[in-house]
Amino acid sequence: MLPEALTRALREARHVCVLTGAGISAESGIPTFREAQTGLWENYDPLDLATPEAFLRDPALVWRWYRWRREIVAGAQPNPGHTALADLEGLVPKLTLVTQNVDGLHARAGSRTVIEFHGNLFATRCFVEGCIVNAAEDDAVPTCPACGSHARPGVVWFGEAIPAPALDQSFAAARDCDVFLSIGTSSLVYPAAGLAELAKNHGAVVAEINPNPTGLAAYFDHAIPGNAGKVLPELVAQLGDRQSRR
Ligand code: APR
Repeated sequence: MLPEALTRALREARHVCVLTGAGISAESGIPTFREAQTGLWENYDPLDLATPEAFLRDPALVWRWYRWRREIVAGAQPNPGHTALADLEGLVPKLTLVTQNVDGLHARAGSRTVIEFHGNLFATRCFVEGCIVNAAEDDAVPTCPACGSHARPGVVWFGEAIPAPALDQSFAAARDCDVFLSIGTSSLVYPAAGLAELAKNHGAVVAEINPNPTGLAAYFDHAIPGNAGKVLPELVAQLGDRQSRR
């Protein structure tokens, strides 16, 4: 049973801001970052692969790991949690969707505007200059046609800064929104984890949806202990019912 106060706040909201993490894609079969890796990669720690230092040390290894991750995502489908968020966009006056995920599943589910806080798995950039590189999907590490440097996955690695436009738009939305939903994220990685706190400090109603309540749950107004793929469709159905009865 979803808290009545939350559906009421959503019904009355002028601006809803949503932050998603790996948990929303778990039901699409995409392992969360902190789960053990499988197969060829079971002896590697993602925290040792997703850094500029790891790429400098062994670009081919890091490139193969990202190729493997792209293959998993390419074979996955958006789940009812992604679809519910795309539907929510049509039920509230304004929705800002910020995702820490690099899998592109929100866009594939129909969300129109997505702020990809940590970039996108399918983008490739020059390691030195950051420009976009069109890379063929093969085993070799691609190079930048402009300067000949190695090209890298277009994601934000540990220790790197979030691109300024994503950071500015997300923080502005967190300050402005009336309702903030934190979905499927362990709330451990900053600055993304700070968005919910910022929203709360600016008076928003903040709710977490996560089967394992996080360290910030007690600070939020609502912590719903469930899977995003079940809770979000229920939330959107309740909201849709009420919107049509207004
Ligand atoms: N529905 C909702 N939440 C879920 C589900 C589900 N079906 N399954 C798992 N979760 C929750 C877990 O309980 C956990 O709290 O999703 C969270 C996933 O946590 P992380 O793997 O830490 O993912 P995330 O918070 O997105 O990580 C943040 O850190 O790993 C790096 O750069 C990477 O963007 C990522 C960032």
